[in-house]
Amino acid sequence: METPTWPSLTLAWLATIALLLLSHYLRRRKVNLPPGPKPWPIIGNLNLIGSLPHRSIHELSQKYGPIMHLRFGSFPVVVGSSVEMAKAFLKTHDVTFASRPKIAAGKYTTYNYSDITWSPYGPYWRQARRMCLMELFSAKRLESYEYIRREEMNACLRDLYESSNEAVLLKGNLTTVSLNVISRMVLGKKYTDETVDSIVSPDEFKKMLDELFLLSGVLNIGDSIPWIDFLDLQGYIKRMKALSKKFDRFLEHVLDEHIERMKGVKDYVAKDMVDVLLQFAEDPALDVKLERHGVKAFTQDLIAGGTESSAVTVEWAISEILKKPEVFKKATEELDRVIGRDRWVEEKDIVNLPYIDAIIKETMRLHPVAPMLVPRLSREDCNIAGYDILKGTRVLVNVWTIGRDPTLWDKPNEFYPERFIGKEIDVKGHDFELLPFGAGRRMCPGYSLGLKVIQSSLSNLLHGFTWSLPENMKIEDLNMEEIFGLSTPKKFPLEVVVKPRLPKHVYSM
Ligand code: HEM
Repeated sequence: METPTWPSLTLAWLATIALLLLSHYLRRRKVNLPPGPKPWPIIGNLNLIGSLPHRSIHELSQKYGPIMHLRFGSFPVVVGSSVEMAKAFLKTHDVTFASRPKIAAGKYTTYNYSDITWSPYGPYWRQARRMCLMELFSAKRLESYEYIRREEMNACLRDLYESSNEAVLLKGNLTTVSLNVISRMVLGKKYTDETVDSIVSPDEFKKMLDELFLLSGVLNIGDSIPWIDFLDLQGYIKRMKALSKKFDRFLEHVLDEHIERMKGVKDYVAKDMVDVLLQFAEDPALDVKLERHGVKAFTQDLIAGGTESSAVTVEWAISEILKKPEVFKKATEELDRVIGRDRWVEEKDIVNLPYIDAIIKETMRLHPVAPMLVPRLSREDCNIAGYDILKGTRVLVNVWTIGRDPTLWDKPNEFYPERFIGKEIDVKGHDFELLPFGAGRRMCPGYSLGLKVIQSSLSNLLHGFTWSLPENMKIEDLNMEEIFGLSTPKKFPLEVVVKPRLPKHVYSM
């Protein structure tokens, strides 16, 4: 065979490069992105996003439709705002969209993406989910902690009883219940007490959690325009670093105490979730090693996930009920009929309280804790409804808009729990019109615990007390504005006056 000459080799190379360029050009030309507003250089569409991003995105989706393409700085973002789109992203193509974007919050507040929420799709995250399913949130483990939930709920009801007829900030009481429940389940005890040598006071810890939720959800400019990240224009990175130092000091203390307790005890039986995680960390058979910072990151995720969301939901529910006294009347009729006036509601009673269940669903429809879920990231190119979604696109599923879609809900802006009575819709990721916990592989792993805490708090609060606004306030003054973060709490915490509804002896538990 003849050896190829230099000119023929050069020609072959040129032809190959030309072919590659041509195919690249054709591929790019053919890309059919979903509709969306024209982006500006550098900022993309960030100019259209206000301080309540879910509301800005809702407005945009009304104009551009159920699948919309935006640019946040240098990054493409696709928003799905209908049942069909939610199904496409979270069910049909779930595995393609099962990763998370690498944003500053995950880097600085959760040990460089070592937690469950921000870890990218892969063996580490899959193993974490297996741990949640088999161990941390197994039905058996959750059931074994029911006494903790009951004790903490009783303490909250006693506290409220003692402050009867005075104005109270309800969110504080609600966060105390969920923080105490989650601390005892995850950490084995309440590390946050008022004693002088306690590692952190309850108030300081609640502030840390509020800050964590806010910083995990904020639109940090550097996440969209990476080359100005170092300027930290909004000061968020500085706050994230300061916060992570505080959490680390607390978590180090917790781990040291747990390791000390386990030392030298043969066949130690795990007493709380940190014990379970430390045992996993010692397990040589684990697919991916769980390091000390991983145990800390998971622990922080469980505390944060378990505390804020249920308190936020119950605060919204009571606010809505205050605006609609007829809902309170129906709820208490159901409670009096099913439970009676001589005892509190227990977890086993919940199945017999369909109206309370409907109130919770209606609250989650109008006030989903995460109105656009937690952002996902496409792991490969994909085609949805005829549109191309390229690898690396950030994906938001806009459950806020779905919850207010007039084609799905009659009078969508009205708080009307009756709409769920006799309907089979649940909140567990099967019914795509109501997705407060998301759906698919990344769905909230703590949903059953979250639901239990919400159900028992709300039903006992309604059973035990009548609710009114402080004297100087009228129903019309009740502000229903939100703050955006990873959770979406009320902008102005609800201040209420409670009066006991049941005979006196019921409160001495
Ligand atoms: C009212 C209660 C709660 C609500 C509304 C809620 C909501 C959510 C939502 C919307 C997501 C994102 C799902 C997605 O990306 O599709 C999520 C993820 C998560 N939630 Fe919850 N959650 C609640 C309670 C809890 C509890 C009690 C825990 C743990 C103790 C928890 C731990 C987590 C974790 C670790 C993730 C990340 C999952 C992953 O990325 O694989 N949540 N939650």
